[in-house]
Amino acid sequence: MPDTRLMSAAIEMTAAVFIGPGRPLSIERLWLDPPGVGEIRVRMVASGVCHSDLHVVDGDWARPTDVVLGHEGAGIVESLGADVTDIAIGDLVVLVWTAPCGTCRPCRRGEVWLCATPRGGGHRRDAAQVRVHRADGSPVGVYSGVGTHATYQVVDAAAAIPVDPRTPHDVAALLGCAATTGIGAVRNTAGVRPGESVVVIGLGGVGLSAVMAAVAAGADPVVAVDTQPEKLKLARQVGATHALDGADRPTSQREVIRLTDGGADHVLECIGLTATVELAIELARPGGTITLVGMTGQAERARVNVYRFVEDGKRLLGSNYGSVVPTNDIPRIAGDVVDGRLPLGRLVTGHIALKGIDEALDAMRRRDGARRVITFPGNGARG
Ligand SMILES: NC(=O)c1ccc[n+]([C@@H]2O[C@H](COP(=O)([O-])OP(=O)(O)OC[C@H]3O[C@@H](n4cnc5c(N)ncnc54)[C@H](O)[C@@H]3O)[C@@H](O)[C@H]2O)c1
Ligand SMILES: [Zn+2]
Ligand SMILES: [Zn+2]
Repeated sequence: MPDTRLMSAAIEMTAAVFIGPGRPLSIERLWLDPPGVGEIRVRMVASGVCHSDLHVVDGDWARPTDVVLGHEGAGIVESLGADVTDIAIGDLVVLVWTAPCGTCRPCRRGEVWLCATPRGGGHRRDAAQVRVHRADGSPVGVYSGVGTHATYQVVDAAAAIPVDPRTPHDVAALLGCAATTGIGAVRNTAGVRPGESVVVIGLGGVGLSAVMAAVAAGADPVVAVDTQPEKLKLARQVGATHALDGADRPTSQREVIRLTDGGADHVLECIGLTATVELAIELARPGGTITLVGMTGQAERARVNVYRFVEDGKRLLGSNYGSVVPTNDIPRIAGDVVDGRLPLGRLVTGHIALKGIDEALDAMRRRDGARRVITFPGNGARG
């Protein structure tokens, strides 16, 4: 039986719910309770479809079911729970999938992207924290504490980062994951400096963002690799000095080595395939750095020629969420967009409605287009 006392304060929402691997997402009318202590309610304006959503839907990663999917979105703050001080009603906020607790060991070290106990995190919060219900009262979780594929959401205030209200809504959504991940990988994890050579393998939302950040950092050359001609074209348009077809691996490998005069200072893998992880290691110069951003299925393993790797003194880094401190990095990246330093709008292949999400996931499987963004025009979304 629904709890009518709670339902009376709840509002209706529509969301895409993950109900099991290999199954279409379930577009459902749900109920959303008011924000609790330290929480806010947002009216969603845009939500990106990230390959990490696809990993979940395709069963590459084990995740609980009956969870509102989506972890890359932006919204307008609509109401505040008790004890929320740093955020105002009407703010445009980017939702982040790791809202640092501030007290665990990684947070105390300043590595907040590795937070062990993110606030509002997990995919189904404990019963006292669940705010989304079906009409029969059964709880529905929210992916990574944000569940952005929804018309409304309640999140921990620490998961909502206010940005310049002039930031286009579709781009603000992408600051929740792809853009911040790719840009942070270049700026923070790899620490690319002017004049260094950079190779980016995989030009989806994450990889193209990495290309833009490398160009903005003054890297040269910036070599972009993908199998899709339209991605190669996009990479050139946003400033890559060279774009190579990765389908012909021996040729592209030779070409990278030639262009970088023996191997790149930095190679970033932005797909999540063991074959391209192994390729990335080959393409770095002796002493060069390989930054892994793409994520494989949970059980997969890549092979390294340890003898060569050690003799060549290479460095292998993993980049989780671009090693960003969301409260610092996300407003700064939004500022770079507003000031024209990062053309992140070029990532947006098209705008879709929430009910088109399965088609967007299918397009991603076909490697078609960079980023499709769900917009909620009824909620005041604007480009
Ligand atoms: N590290 C993190 O914190 C983090 C955050 C977000 C996403 N990710 C991961 O990053 C990866 C990329 O995400 P995305 O949303 O940009 O994905 P995407 O599907 O939009 O992009 C992948 C790109 O790789 C290209 N590609 C596929 N196979 C290729 C091959 N063999 N050679 C060359 N190019 C190839 C595709 O054409 C596409 O352009 C995913 O694994 C995702 O889970 C990691
Ligand atoms: Zn923490
Ligand atoms: Zn993502």
